[in-house]
Amino acid sequence: MANSPLHATALAHPNIAFIKYWGNRDDQLRLPMTGSLSMALDGLDTVTRVGFDPDLAADRFILNGMEQSGAALNRVASFLDYVRRLAVLNRFAQVESNNNYPSGAGIASSAAAFAALALAASKAAGLELSDAELSRLARLGSGSACRSVPGGFAEWLPGSGDADSYAVQIAPPEHWDLVDLIVVVDRGEKAVGSSAGHKLASTSPLQTLRVAGVPERLEQCRIAILERDFERLAQVVELDSEWMHAVMRTSTPPLYYWTPATEVVLWNVRAWRSQGNAVCATVDAGPNVHVIALAQEADWTEAQLRALPGVLEVLKAKPGGGAKLIED
Ligand code: DP6
Repeated sequence: MANSPLHATALAHPNIAFIKYWGNRDDQLRLPMTGSLSMALDGLDTVTRVGFDPDLAADRFILNGMEQSGAALNRVASFLDYVRRLAVLNRFAQVESNNNYPSGAGIASSAAAFAALALAASKAAGLELSDAELSRLARLGSGSACRSVPGGFAEWLPGSGDADSYAVQIAPPEHWDLVDLIVVVDRGEKAVGSSAGHKLASTSPLQTLRVAGVPERLEQCRIAILERDFERLAQVVELDSEWMHAVMRTSTPPLYYWTPATEVVLWNVRAWRSQGNAVCATVDAGPNVHVIALAQEADWTEAQLRALPGVLEVLKAKPGGGAKLIED
């Protein structure tokens, strides 16, 4: 090992939650109130290189070519502390991360960011983690990142504690030809990020009801995926998204993520489905809409979406794989 820098590079995709994670029972450890289920997004890539270097006096974090400081750097440095503790390593690291998708597109990048960082940093530190251990580690950086580790269609098992709260793949990406059409209606930074949002969830009187219904919705979603039953998927995905936004809107203070353009997209997706098209929609903690469609409907749906008022851009993603090491 001597004094040579220890380094590794990993690639991971973001994911879209079909059944949402909203609210923690332990904010520090990111132990969620409920399970959740998602699809990884192929073609949207975060590539992260980590080098532990004895010559560094502090951690450095460079995102899309720009040196980060403040909260962004602190979040990465705190995460690296977990890795250093596990590996009994006493070196600072340089982390360079690049996304091939626009930062302003409103796609939550923390899932891909911490999945790639968990893999690259643990490898660079000489740790050999199992799939479950890697997913657990990523969870400590960002909850949804634990689902980007296995990729494909992944379910986060809430667990009884830190040891058994991680995600597993329930079906590989090639299992079902779905697409996610990411409809960008706003490129701005959101006012309240997910981490702050999770802390408000319990202030909503609806959160208890939402949480009580999650096991049944997870079951419906699992069946829909395993049986490739689009209508079942559509109903449960839209219902679960509505529950999360109902909790957000009734929190103290309330969180309103949608804009009028969000509503226009949702309204039209419902109309297209009632006409027989295999499309449905879900919205994360922001105004942009993820329109899920059968692949054969993707071109038609994309053209319709682009013609709607307020739509700035439409990105297209197929189901993607898990986090993986690449040449560095
Ligand atoms: C609305 O995983 O981004 O996208 O753990 O604080 O990083 P942190 O939160 P994050 O929350 C995701 C919230 C969501 C729903 C989901 O992806 O399940």
